[in-house]
Amino acid sequence: MKLLHVDSSILGQGSVSRDLSADIVATLRGRHPDLTVSRLDLAATPIGHLTAAHLGAAQGASVDEALKADVAIGNIALEEFLAADVVVVGAPMYNFTVSSQLKAWIDRIAVAGKTFRYGEQGPIGLCGDKKLIIASSRGGAYIEGSPAAFMDHQETYLRGLFGFLGITDITFIRAEGVAMGSEARSGAVASAKTEIATLAA
Ligand SMILES: Cc1cc2nc3c(=O)[nH]c(=O)nc-3n(C[C@H](O)[C@H](O)[C@H](O)COP(=O)(O)O)c2cc1C
Repeated sequence: MKLLHVDSSILGQGSVSRDLSADIVATLRGRHPDLTVSRLDLAATPIGHLTAAHLGAAQGASVDEALKADVAIGNIALEEFLAADVVVVGAPMYNFTVSSQLKAWIDRIAVAGKTFRYGEQGPIGLCGDKKLIIASSRGGAYIEGSPAAFMDHQETYLRGLFGFLGITDITFIRAEGVAMGSEARSGAVASAKTEIATLAA
């Protein structure tokens, strides 16, 4: 079984989503000794923003060396995503949505003909065989029914995007309210870790 472990927090050691995503991967390693893990740290090794030049390169236009290298990084990211059976994504909420590092990666894996296509009835996701686990961390509280729920453009976006790619097996491990005091933070992390311990094998 192949697992792709993606992190996108800019907060390094202090990151909640990194702590949780690492715990998820360690738990799955414990359950599947045959697991092979590919690692993508989008803060340490950022992927450039998608530009018209990238689209041109995909159509065969000639490109300079810097762009060639970035296109190659994006292509490897896509291949790793396509090859994975399980994808674990550390996804912090920044300014009510995902980090720009994560969005840059998404722009390279949401590729027509590879991860989705359009048919006569509309879009068809091509990644329905993957399992996705998202380690979500956010400073405030956005769960359904809370006053700020309408400001959640992070989990709702990720659910929509990966659903568009055909993934139906999506689990969110969430630590929220982590900016609402140290007790709230440690409680949120502890309850997320309890959930991780019960993740299906
Ligand atoms: C640049 C930045 C923007 C943030 N924006 C929000 C926000 O819009 N809403 C929120 O509830 N928390 C926000 N936070 C708090 C983070 O969601 C919280 O610190 C969370 O733990 C981030 O995940 P990480 O620790 O893995 O980086 C922000 C934090 C940073 C550093």
